[in-house]
Amino acid sequence: MDSTPYRDIPVDALEADQAAAELAALAAEIAGHDAAYHQHDAPVISDAAYDALRRRNAAIEDRFPELKRDDSPSDRVGAAPATGFRKVRHALPMLSLGNAFDEADVTEFLARIRRFLNLEPDAALAILAEPKIDGLSASLRYEEGVLALAATRGDGSEGEDVTANVRTIADIPQRLPADAPRVLEVRGEVYMTRQDFRALNERREAAGEPVFANPRNSAAGSLRQLDPTVTAGRPLRFFGYSWGEVSAPFAETQSDARRKLDAWGFQLNEPAALCDDVASLMAHYGRIMAERADLAYEIDGVVYKVDRLDWQQRLGFVSRAPRWAVAHKFPAEQAQTRLNRIFIQVGRTGALTPVADLEPVTVGGVVVSRATLHNEDEIRRKDVREGDTVLIQRAGDVIPQVLGIVAERRPPDSVEFAYPDHCPECGSLAIREEGEVVRRCTGGLICPAQAVERLRHFVSRDAFDIEGLGDKHIRAFHAEGLVKGPADIFRLEERDGEVAPPMAEREGWGERSAANLFRAIADRRRVPLDRFIYALGIRQIGQATARLLARHYGSLPDWRSAMVAAADRAGEAYADLTGIDQIGPSVADDLIGFFAEPHNLSVMEALEDVLTVEDVVDQTVGDSPLAGKTIVFTGGLESMSRPEAKAMAETLGAKVAGSVSKKTDFVVVGADAGSKATKARDLGLTVLSEADWLAMIGRTG
Ligand code: IVH
Repeated sequence: MDSTPYRDIPVDALEADQAAAELAALAAEIAGHDAAYHQHDAPVISDAAYDALRRRNAAIEDRFPELKRDDSPSDRVGAAPATGFRKVRHALPMLSLGNAFDEADVTEFLARIRRFLNLEPDAALAILAEPKIDGLSASLRYEEGVLALAATRGDGSEGEDVTANVRTIADIPQRLPADAPRVLEVRGEVYMTRQDFRALNERREAAGEPVFANPRNSAAGSLRQLDPTVTAGRPLRFFGYSWGEVSAPFAETQSDARRKLDAWGFQLNEPAALCDDVASLMAHYGRIMAERADLAYEIDGVVYKVDRLDWQQRLGFVSRAPRWAVAHKFPAEQAQTRLNRIFIQVGRTGALTPVADLEPVTVGGVVVSRATLHNEDEIRRKDVREGDTVLIQRAGDVIPQVLGIVAERRPPDSVEFAYPDHCPECGSLAIREEGEVVRRCTGGLICPAQAVERLRHFVSRDAFDIEGLGDKHIRAFHAEGLVKGPADIFRLEERDGEVAPPMAEREGWGERSAANLFRAIADRRRVPLDRFIYALGIRQIGQATARLLARHYGSLPDWRSAMVAAADRAGEAYADLTGIDQIGPSVADDLIGFFAEPHNLSVMEALEDVLTVEDVVDQTVGDSPLAGKTIVFTGGLESMSRPEAKAMAETLGAKVAGSVSKKTDFVVVGADAGSKATKARDLGLTVLSEADWLAMIGRTG
């Protein structure tokens, strides 16, 4: 690429001004090639030609050291990957666990399983209970008995390839015995013992390096090292407790599987016990809690799992958590500290949330300096004031809370907290509607806090998951007008340098971090419909609802036109929307409200210009008679519970609706069916008996 008139002049013959022009041109060209190669995996010149450009650049710098540029390619490593780890899609999603906090929750967990499986009250239900380790989960894929791939959990569908690092963990077998399945993904937790964590921190402190907050962070930080030799120097360990893809079943029960994992060389977390009712689960829980302080590693609860694997299979999962397992968490840890100030945060829907700014205090191994005060009624009820000593609590991943005040320690001059009736960010009136606990800013589009929060939500992990675009950057980009709406994020690279200094020249940024950010953004130009819906940040539309909507409507154009049409509450589209199981009038109102706002429509249009939103592809076998069909169950079934029938229909690609309409394909009529059956017949729909249903799903009654 001869992009300057001096390219053919030998370095020795260059004049200073020619050399300066050449260096500028080379810097731009090389950066362009780096981007093409690393960010888009699409090099436009040969490696030899690229090397020649770099050599010429270096030779000119040698001769004219004073002309060396701040963005000189010689200061950048050309060959290192732009982002740390390769992303890998999990063959089977890595699930998380639902929580139980007390005996009532555990009782309900067992009852739900019994209902789902239609078990007789006296039928045995064995549950395996084992400690819940506080580390980070990883999936280890063995092929032909050899460790082939190790990945972090990531968002559950896609994690990071940490194979090289995992190979350095002594607890993890590199090879499995011959009786292991040909393909086996062992899942478990990478963790660090308390003692190793303390020793590591002492070494870091002595070396003047920042220390880790707790063993969990320390394990995570050690596993996610770009240089595996660093990981090798960190005392990481691994417990196996579950599995993903397997080429052949290898056990009939969870306890059986544990024995196999043990035999194949994996460490298991003890003490485990097979329990058969709430009382025995609670007893084992009590025992583990009593031993907790003596364990070498940190645990944060006990996991209960249905022992029979065929039952696990039938139970399946909802959203991202299995129905057959639950985490019984230990009680939250508490501490006292001084509340320095109460400030108000404005969320993406305009909700004002009071937050306590605390004197930092360690609670359960984590330093806490903020806690939520929920809402204005809570502040009044607890009479929390600035300067008070407060009792705070932290449980698991939830935001720490202020439980109450320590009355005797209240300073004599304290005054009641005056809750604002204007938005602290934009000054608009903040109002509280009848029956609502939340006060909301009425500033809408003019409120910068709402805009920033919407953007933060948009790039967050469960939405677009754009790495490297932190809160600080979003706030700055928004304040400067660089990113006004979500679509602007996807224009950052092409507009780089137009209105503000180029990304790489901003404070705290360099070539490498700018390139990484642009690459992370480019990687997200294709997005599944459910993530797109969730990212819009519509009130009440969480991940689970976004998935329901995506599955029901299938594509962005279909969803959008249906939402616009649903504004007619008497029409077909509204009936169809509220017919989706779990979507009621209140959620429907929020969706309709969102689409009634012209600004939201233009945000979506702008996004469509820069993105590809993927249609939902049916993951079910194409020959399932239920794929893409809408089914309604009414009346009682004998052979399976309603939840199991519903789960089965969904697994086979059907949408389960709560009410009958012209769009319903099948109505399964059980015993004592009422008006829905009559309506189905009136509409001339296909009505199935329980036997027809069983035949359809390939089961005999
Ligand atoms: S079973 C299908 N067993 O806790 C669910 N998980 O909060 C498979 N965890 O994502 C998980 N100890 O990373 C299981 N003994 C244990 C565990 C355990 C820790 C983690 C796991 C999971 C998270 C959910």
